[in-house]
Amino acid sequence: MPRVFRKQVFVCTTEGEGKCATKGSLEVFQKFRDEVKARNLTDIIVTRVGCTGQHATGPTVIVHPDGLWYQRVTPTDVAEIIEQHLVGGRPVARLINPEMQVKG
Ligand code: FES
Repeated sequence: MPRVFRKQVFVCTTEGEGKCATKGSLEVFQKFRDEVKARNLTDIIVTRVGCTGQHATGPTVIVHPDGLWYQRVTPTDVAEIIEQHLVGGRPVARLINPEMQVKG
């Protein structure tokens, strides 16, 4: 039986000068993991991802299947993204990367 998820959250955790990990993305990743588990959101999976070329505005977080890219995400933004977007269906406008869009 496959596990079926409603949302997948990708957090860029690439290390190196100017990369997302040096801007705190490992803490963002862990916060997403902790919050999703604490809220028992079993239909949401959080995974690490490599560089997406957007570290100038990192940490970068991508939400699928919405094709939505967030920029400059901090651990304090995580609860808002979860509550407003992943649960409530309304993306957090102030964090959206306007340079990156995926349209199905
Ligand atoms: S290191 Fe995160 S987008 Fe490049």
